[in-house]
Amino acid sequence: MGQVAVSAVSKIYGEPGAIGSVVALDNVSFEIPDNRFCAILGHSGCGKTTLLNIAAGFEQATKGVVTVDGTPIREPGWQHTMIFQDYALFPWMSVAQNIAFGLEMKNIPRPEREQVTRHHIELVGLQGFEHKLPHHLSGGMRQRVAIARALAVCPRVLLMDEPFAALDAQNRSLMQDELVCIWQREPKTVLLVTHSIDEAIKLADYIVVMTRRPGRVKSFIEVDLPRPRDEDSAAYAKLKRRLRMSIHDEISDDQ
Ligand SMILES: Nc1ncnc2c1ncn2[C@@H]1O[C@H](COP(=O)(O)OP(=O)(O)O)[C@@H](O)[C@H]1O
Ligand SMILES: [Mg+2]
Repeated sequence: MGQVAVSAVSKIYGEPGAIGSVVALDNVSFEIPDNRFCAILGHSGCGKTTLLNIAAGFEQATKGVVTVDGTPIREPGWQHTMIFQDYALFPWMSVAQNIAFGLEMKNIPRPEREQVTRHHIELVGLQGFEHKLPHHLSGGMRQRVAIARALAVCPRVLLMDEPFAALDAQNRSLMQDELVCIWQREPKTVLLVTHSIDEAIKLADYIVVMTRRPGRVKSFIEVDLPRPRDEDSAAYAKLKRRLRMSIHDEISDDQ
């Protein structure tokens, strides 16, 4: 299970109406069915991280609510785990220890913990690196550890905030393909924030295009293209054009 509903979510930083207060999100609503992949696409500062933080329970909405399977998210929990841009691994723990960490927090008994950890190491292709520390790994490999750690606790929803932004173009493309493969093997509801149109088309079933501040839903697009997505296909180019126009409008509106 992992149906996500964002219902009339607004977020104001500071006292509403006061000088210096920021309306980060304004009446944002959309729904993502179980096990589907959603990309939240928008310019920097449009409230993407704010929305994800609310879905993770790190921040409270000023108005509205995010629910998973009908239950409002009020605080952080393993059911809705977040993967950060900088991976946020524990530097003193090995790959295996990092992945097992959440399982220990869940009080999973040791034999099961080891089995689940092994499974996820294989899932992200890190066999042979179990005992390495994060600083011995490349950026792409660290991101794999972060994905394995997040998936190991079996969350209902996986939240990813520009997870590949720190990677170079080649590794980013590789990790996008990897993420799709992992997700296809073990489907999960995913909300992924990005400002890249190509990343959104490559990964997502649904794309939520956000307006500039205050963040509102500009369009909600279902991506009905077979995977792996063919960047050279006419359908891909058509969707890309549509998204580019939608995003471009935002720049024009702002000027
Ligand atoms: N803790 C905060 N206090 C005040 N303003 C904030 C805070 N966090 C974010 N903002 C503001 O809210 C807006 C949306 O930010 P953010 O969600 O980080 O956007 P994005 O992730 O799309 O770049 C920005 O104008 C940002 O400056
Ligand atoms: Mg952000």
